[in-house]
Amino acid sequence: MPTSVSRPRLIVLGSAAGGGFPQWNCRCPVCALAWDRDPRVRSRTQTSIAVSADGERWALVNCAPEILSQIRSVPALHPRGSRRQSPVASVLLTNADIDHVAGLLSLREAQPFSLLATPGVHQVLRASSAFDVLAEGVVERRLVELGASFDLVEGVRATIFPVPGKIALYLEAREEADTGTLVTDRQGEQTIGVELRLGEARVLFIPGCAAITDALRARLDGADAVLFDGTLWRDDEMALAGVGTKTGRRMGHMSMSGAEGSMAALAGLDIGRRIYVHINNTNPVLIDGSSERVAANRAGWEIAEDGMEILL
Ligand code: MLT
Ligand code: MN
Ligand code: ZN
Repeated sequence: MPTSVSRPRLIVLGSAAGGGFPQWNCRCPVCALAWDRDPRVRSRTQTSIAVSADGERWALVNCAPEILSQIRSVPALHPRGSRRQSPVASVLLTNADIDHVAGLLSLREAQPFSLLATPGVHQVLRASSAFDVLAEGVVERRLVELGASFDLVEGVRATIFPVPGKIALYLEAREEADTGTLVTDRQGEQTIGVELRLGEARVLFIPGCAAITDALRARLDGADAVLFDGTLWRDDEMALAGVGTKTGRRMGHMSMSGAEGSMAALAGLDIGRRIYVHINNTNPVLIDGSSERVAANRAGWEIAEDGMEILL
C-alpha cells in the first residue's frame, strides 16, 4: 500500500458574501459580535473555493479580494520548489462581482495561469483596463460557453450552466440607463453555476442564485455535495438589521428560509452534503447556537467556514 494516496480535494478559501465578515464599515447586530470578539462568531473572507485532483495542481473558482491571505493560510496553495511558481493553474469565474474578481488584480506577478469565464464575463473584465495587469502572453483568457464541459485542472472536469441572477452591482446604473429596467433573475452568461467531477464525486458550486428552476433541481439531485448561495436568511434582512433597504430579490439572491427559500426548494432531493457559502454579514446563521443556525442544521444544511475542507 502506498503511504499517501493522492485524492481529489476541495477547500473553501472564503465563505462570506460581498463585504466579508465582519464588513469594514458595519455594526449590524452580527458584525457587532465579530468586532466585539464574541466567541460565537468567526470572521470570514469572501467566497472562493480551490479544487484539485491530486493535491499538486489547483484551480480556483472565483478570486476574492482576500486571495493573498487565503493562499497564505492554505499550505496546499503555497509556492513549491524554488523561485517563482504556483500550484494554482487556473481560475474560473462564476460572475463579474467584485467579491469574485478583485483578487485577480493581486495575481499579477508575471505568473502564468488560465483565466476561464463566459464571453460575457470576459467582456466585463476587458472593459476595466486595470485587469490588463494580467498580461497577454502570461495569463491565458479562455472563453467557456454555457453548457460546456472542460478540464479546469488535470483530473477536475467542470460543466458550467446559467442560473437566475443579475449583472454585477457596478454595471447596474448603466444597464438601467440603457434599458430602463434591471432584471435580477436573468439566465445568461452573467451568473453561472459550476458542476465539478472530482474523482467519483459530483459537486455543485453555486454562490449566487436568484431562484431554483426545475432544471436546477434536477441537476442538484443525486449530487455528493452542493455549495449554495447562503447570502441571506430572509429577504428583508438588510432592512431588519437597519443597514439598507435592498431585498435579497433585488440583489439576485434567494433567501435560505421561507416558503420560497432554498431550504424548502431543495428539501427532498438526494444530496450528500448541503453547504451554504457566500453568507452575508447580516445573516444570523453566522452565530453559533442562533435559532436560525439550529433551523438550518435541522434542515440538513452546514454553514461553511474559511479553510473548511470537503472530503470527497
Ligand atoms: C452580490 O453577491 O450581490 C454582490 O457581491 C454584491 C456586491 O458586489 O456587493
Ligand atoms: Mn457576491
Ligand atoms: Zn454587518
